[in-house]
Amino acid sequence: MLHRSARHDACDDAVAPLGKEMAGRAATGDIARVEMGIGIRRADGPIGAEIVGVDLSRPVSDETFAAIEGAFTERSVIAFRNQTIDERQHVAFSRRFGELEVHVMQQYLLDGVPEILLVSNVQENGRPIGLVDAGQYWHTDLCYEPTPSRCSLLYAREVPVREDGTVLGDTMFASAVAAYDALPEAMKRRIAGLRALHRYGDRYDAMRSAGSGRDAMTAEQRERLPGAVHPVVRTHPQTGRKAIYVNEGLTVRILDLPEDESRDLLAELCAHIIRPEFRYVHKWQLGDLLMWDNCAVQHCAVADYAPPLRRIMHRTTVRGSAPF
Ligand code: SIN
Repeated sequence: MLHRSARHDACDDAVAPLGKEMAGRAATGDIARVEMGIGIRRADGPIGAEIVGVDLSRPVSDETFAAIEGAFTERSVIAFRNQTIDERQHVAFSRRFGELEVHVMQQYLLDGVPEILLVSNVQENGRPIGLVDAGQYWHTDLCYEPTPSRCSLLYAREVPVREDGTVLGDTMFASAVAAYDALPEAMKRRIAGLRALHRYGDRYDAMRSAGSGRDAMTAEQRERLPGAVHPVVRTHPQTGRKAIYVNEGLTVRILDLPEDESRDLLAELCAHIIRPEFRYVHKWQLGDLLMWDNCAVQHCAVADYAPPLRRIMHRTTVRGSAPF
C-alpha cells in the first residue's frame, strides 16, 4: 500500500490532534507499583508503561532484567525516563534482548558503533547526519526481513522543544494484538492463512520522491533487501497471542488475492489497527530510553518539527529469534 504521496500524511495528518489526547492518557496511568523490584506505571490503554527505579548506566541484575522483560512482554512499549547512558551501555542493554541488527543504510550508522542507527533531522556540512525522516509512517521495524525484529530501543539525545516548552516529535504506537482481538470473527476467518509481501525500497523511494533528504539507496543496499513474505496474522513468540502483521508503510500487497482486493483489505486492516483505543503516544523527554515490541505493535514518528529545532535519537534493533 505504497501509493500515498504526501510526505507525512500516513500518520500526522490523521493523528496530530490525537497525540495530545493520548499523551494525557499516558500521564494519568497508575502510580508506579513495585513489582519484582521495579516500579511500573502503566498507561491507560492496552500498551505502554514507564519503568521506574532502574538506572541503565549501572549493571542490571538478572532478577531486575527478568522483571523488565516481563513488563515489556505485557505492555509492548516501555519507557525508562532520565537515563544518562553512553553508546556502549545502550548497545549492552539492547544485547540482553538478542542479537543486534546493523541497518542497511550504513551512512547513517553512528561512527564506530554500527549497531546504532542515527535518527536525526540535524545537518552537518549540508548533509543529514542520520536517517532524517525515519519511521514517519506506520510500520514495524524490519518486517521486510525474513526474520523481522523482536524489538527496538530508541534513546533520546536531543528533543525538539517549542518556545512554549512543548516537546515535539512524539512517537505513536498501536497494538496489533488488541486490534486482532477486536476483529469480527468473519474477518479473523478471512485473513487466517493469508500471506503478505513487505519491502523496504518501495517506501524508501516514495519518501525520496516526496522530498525527503535521504540519500538514494545503492544497488547493493537494494539487493540486500529484496523483501519478505509473512503471514498476515502472526503469533507472538513470547505470549502466543495473535497480532495483525501488515502495516501501511512497508506492506506492499497481500499475496493470494487479486490486486484490488489486496489493496482494499490492506486499507481496511491498517485503518483498524491504528484506531485510538489501541494506541499509546509517547511524549519524549531528554534521556528517555523507549523500547517497543515489533511483533505486538506498529509505530509512527510524528513530523511536527523542523530546523532550527533539533532531534537526535539513537536506535538499536534486536533481531527476532526464528522465521515464522
Ligand atoms: C523509528 O521508526 O525507528 C523512528 C521512531 C522515531 O524517530 O520516533
